[in-house]
Amino acid sequence: MKFKALWITETAEGKFERSIIERSIDDLPAGEVLIRVKYSSLNYKDALSATGNKGITKKFPHTPGIDAAGVVELSRSEHFGTGDEVIVTGYDLGMNTSGGYGQFIRVPASWVVKKPEAFTLKECMTIGTAGFTAATALHKMELLGQNPEQGPIVVTGSTGGVGSLAVAILSTAGYEVIAVSGKQNAWEYLQHLGASRMENREWVNDQSGKALLKPQWSGAIDTVGGNTLVTLLKGCKLEGAVACTGLVGSPKLEGTVYPFILNGVSLIGVGSAEMPMSTKLKIWDKLSGQWNCREKMNAIAKEVSLEELKNTYIDTILKGNVMGRIVVNVEA
Ligand SMILES: NC(=O)c1ccc[n+]([C@@H]2O[C@H](COP(=O)([O-])OP(=O)(O)OC[C@H]3O[C@@H](n4cnc5c(N)ncnc54)[C@H](OP(=O)(O)O)[C@@H]3O)[C@@H](O)[C@H]2O)c1
Repeated sequence: MKFKALWITETAEGKFERSIIERSIDDLPAGEVLIRVKYSSLNYKDALSATGNKGITKKFPHTPGIDAAGVVELSRSEHFGTGDEVIVTGYDLGMNTSGGYGQFIRVPASWVVKKPEAFTLKECMTIGTAGFTAATALHKMELLGQNPEQGPIVVTGSTGGVGSLAVAILSTAGYEVIAVSGKQNAWEYLQHLGASRMENREWVNDQSGKALLKPQWSGAIDTVGGNTLVTLLKGCKLEGAVACTGLVGSPKLEGTVYPFILNGVSLIGVGSAEMPMSTKLKIWDKLSGQWNCREKMNAIAKEVSLEELKNTYIDTILKGNVMGRIVVNVEA
């Protein structure tokens, strides 16, 4: 059987080209569950894979897409049957395993999650890896005792995928949110998601050389890394927690130990791709229940076809210009 997929090839000159081709199901990797994909989504990592970043995808040609939501076509696992609505986020999907930018994926059963009842397949991809990462950050912060009474939480990269969902989830959970954005015109958008204040990127780019700053926030969800992450640690209140999720600014971390040993601040690592299934299900439960921000997130989702993804949105996200979530309808 043939199916449509985005196809990234490497030329002899080391350039990466995108096309949409027909692939054969026989060419998919081995796995217990064959899924007919309905929706995927666009994450920063997908754009890196689609432009040949070998830290993400080692071998080309390749079909990216680290998220997929669809219907089980064939299953050799007792946990899933034909017709089940399911989602896959993370693990190796879209990295070195053919991903969600194709109409079929075949994956190990251990990667597959039954679609939460609270959401449609499209809504699951509006959340996707971005929303799941934001939720994982808050889940880990709350395990350390974070709560809304302690004070505001800063979100950086707040109009991006992880950032937008972080603002929406935090505000739904009762937190005061300070959203940091480089986009001048983002206030209305961020206010809709539940931010109570907006600051520009320089506000969390301290150049004073001081080891600690006047404490202004009780925690942070950071997507930027580098000096932004260091500033968030320096300005965090006693016993606060800063979750590191990304590196759109820099992968470096050049600070001192003072925020940790004088203020008891915790630095939390968030890696949403690999985690025990029991934790994954706990986080989807929270997203479906007390952190359900369905209306806010649906308002910031833009549905695109594979063609539009290929021609426009992969480049837009690499320039830091995406606002909200790009949901890919792979059947369109
Ligand atoms: N740990 C995990 O499991 C995990 C999962 C998903 C994503 N991530 C990482 O999280 C980061 C964000 O991913 P995403 O999918 O949300 O990307 P995204 O949609 O492109 O969002 C990134 C946002 O960061 C801001 N930004 C871009 N370039 C910047 C720069 N040079 N300095 C400061 N801010 C900048 C922009 O927001 P503003 O214009 O509003 O400032 C941009 O919209 C990436 O590094 C990604 O690899 C990690």
